[in-house]
Amino acid sequence: MRILVTGGAGFIGSHTCVSLLESGYEVAVLDNYVNSSPAAVAAIEQITGKKVLAYEVDLLDLEAVQAVFQKDHFDGVIHFAGLKAVGESVSKPLEYYHNNITGSLNLCRAMREADCKVLVFSSSATVYGPVNPIPYVEGMPTSATSPYGWTKVMIEQMLTDLAATDPAWSISLLRYFNPVGAHESGLIGEAPNGIPNNLMPYIAKVATGELPYLRVFGGDYDTPDGTGVRDYIHVMDLAEGHVKALEYALSHTGVEAVNLGSGKGTSVLELFHAYERACGKELAYQICPRRAGDLPAFWADPRKAEALYHWHTTRDLDSMCRDSWRFTSSHMG
Ligand code: NAD
Ligand code: UD1
Repeated sequence: MRILVTGGAGFIGSHTCVSLLESGYEVAVLDNYVNSSPAAVAAIEQITGKKVLAYEVDLLDLEAVQAVFQKDHFDGVIHFAGLKAVGESVSKPLEYYHNNITGSLNLCRAMREADCKVLVFSSSATVYGPVNPIPYVEGMPTSATSPYGWTKVMIEQMLTDLAATDPAWSISLLRYFNPVGAHESGLIGEAPNGIPNNLMPYIAKVATGELPYLRVFGGDYDTPDGTGVRDYIHVMDLAEGHVKALEYALSHTGVEAVNLGSGKGTSVLELFHAYERACGKELAYQICPRRAGDLPAFWADPRKAEALYHWHTTRDLDSMCRDSWRFTSSHMG
């Protein structure tokens, strides 16, 4: 079986390519490298010892996307390609809506023309919006608090409407919680440019000495230690979740929204101290004001993924930090 992975050179996509190849699938990557590089494709080949076909294509270029489907036959598509920086989406809403929504529309159009109707889409826990009670369950109403989040809500809606037109479609809307960590080889991982927005990449840069201390956004939340609580998931658990979701999608039709999370909440300080253990140093932090738009706490109800995919997370906080540190420390300087 051959699978097209859009955004396959990115953080989650590259790890998923490894899991797909190790599960016996052939993989083709489609990426314009706006937030990644072809080096990730070479690293995937190095880890697995298998060839990956790479298309340097922008999803905004409909003809180029159609040409990929004319050239090759795909049994299914995993669609990661998109812009993902929440803060940037507030200052560049048109660019985010255009890239994420038009890109997804072009992909679906090319898939329909090629009669390829199995699609696994990267959604996010952000679609649960600001008011749902925790833990989040798939049937809850969706909304968003940023243009980025709205692109996910809108693409979910668009895909649901598409599936309603033709019973042959099989579409999975995977709602990721907080993906962190790296492949245990240390060859692929998350390497954001500049000052990271997300917690673990920020702590990693404190550990390398590039940043002086962690700013903990809020120490007075109604949580066990006063800091924000999230559901962190090792990126390799997430990658394996995609293989299970794909297997399910290949043998069913219709639309399913499914949480991919551990079901367990971890505070900022718990993660920080786990990272100190992983890198073997004491690190500095300061409690700072809350970050605008942050929720105090959320985590997944992971039971649907268990029921449908027989999948649950297996890697703990210490392995998330250890694998992140192995990647970060071997890519310093
Ligand atoms: P990433 O930026 O590392 O990967 C995205 C990839 O898509 C990059 O390689 C980028 O070059 C490519 N891309 C972007 N626009 C493109 C276009 N128009 N045409 C072709 N390629 C394009 O991000 P990631 O963390 O791996 O996230 C993957 C997906 O998962 C995204 O859709 C993101 O919104 C979603 N997601 C991520 C997180 C997270 O915390 N990382 C959480 C929830 C959901
Ligand atoms: C953020 C996005 C969310 C996206 C998710 C992907 C925002 C507002 N939300 O969520 O839409 O789906 O990433 O993983 O950007 N923290 C600090 N100091 C830091 C960075 C973070 O204390 O320097 C805290 C935050 O307040 C939060 C926790 O760490 O409590 C996790 O933050 P982060 O990694 O940015 O993820 P989310 O806020 O969950």
